[in-house]
Amino acid sequence: MTQQDDAPAGIDTTQMSHARAYDYVLGGKDNFAVDREAAGQVIALAPDLPALGRAQRRFLLRVTRMCAEAGIRQFLDVGAGIPTPPNVHETARGLAPDARVVYVDNDPIVFVHNNALLATDDGVVSIKADVREPDQLLDRLRSEHLIDFEQPVLVLFIGLFHLVTDAENPAALIARFRERMAPGSYVCISQFCVDGSDPAARAKLEEISANSPAPMTFRGRDEIESFFDGFDLLPPGVVDLRQWSPDEDVPPTKLKVAAGVGRVR
Ligand SMILES: C[S@@+](CC[C@H](N)C(=O)[O-])C[C@H]1O[C@@H](n2cnc3c(N)ncnc32)[C@H](O)[C@@H]1O
Repeated sequence: MTQQDDAPAGIDTTQMSHARAYDYVLGGKDNFAVDREAAGQVIALAPDLPALGRAQRRFLLRVTRMCAEAGIRQFLDVGAGIPTPPNVHETARGLAPDARVVYVDNDPIVFVHNNALLATDDGVVSIKADVREPDQLLDRLRSEHLIDFEQPVLVLFIGLFHLVTDAENPAALIARFRERMAPGSYVCISQFCVDGSDPAARAKLEEISANSPAPMTFRGRDEIESFFDGFDLLPPGVVDLRQWSPDEDVPPTKLKVAAGVGRVR
């Protein structure tokens, strides 16, 4: 998509969007000049950012497969982003055709693209909602019979909570989900980590997002681990994303993402 293209209704092409900038980082086409300019400034300092993004996609699909194989049939992807094949629903339903997948994002562009992609698929739904209003989202999922919280679910929060500020209290938001999740449910969280991240690249990301609706917050590994309070952490714990896929031999990246998987006892 270029600036000359007509943007879908309600899409602001003058302000950077995290969903569209990340689409650009992942090699997608659903972004505008303002997004490419912002992402390009970070990539200039951290040229391996696209490799990190692709590794994060492989990680979330790996966890989706693991959960589908463990019998999970409901998948809630919060901060789902613009579709990037293979997506969670293709992966989950490839293993379990009856799996239900709900995508949630607060960026209208995601809703537009997901609806176009999923229009014909009954078991897959996309909704526009904000993780910072957890009770509203959880009540809607229940009242519209999108997720049955009496049954186990995988909740994915991938690359999301660095877009939620300390004042918005990610740990408390996650706890609201945990309180509703049935035993045997899983949560998967990844976010940018202070530990080991290149200071200049981190400062650039924080700077370009400072005036956006979602300023970027890097966090230490210990704080990210505290997001899993009340869950049993699966090995290897909350670690650098690369450690989740030692077989992939991904070279170290300038920016670091910490990731973990927890289970409701
Ligand atoms: C870095 S992208 C990650 C996309 C996807 N999870 C992935 O890993 O490929 C972060 C996504 O979170 C969404 N997001 C940011 N703040 C949000 C909020 N408060 N509620 C819901 N979604 C949010 C953005 O619109 C964006 O699509």
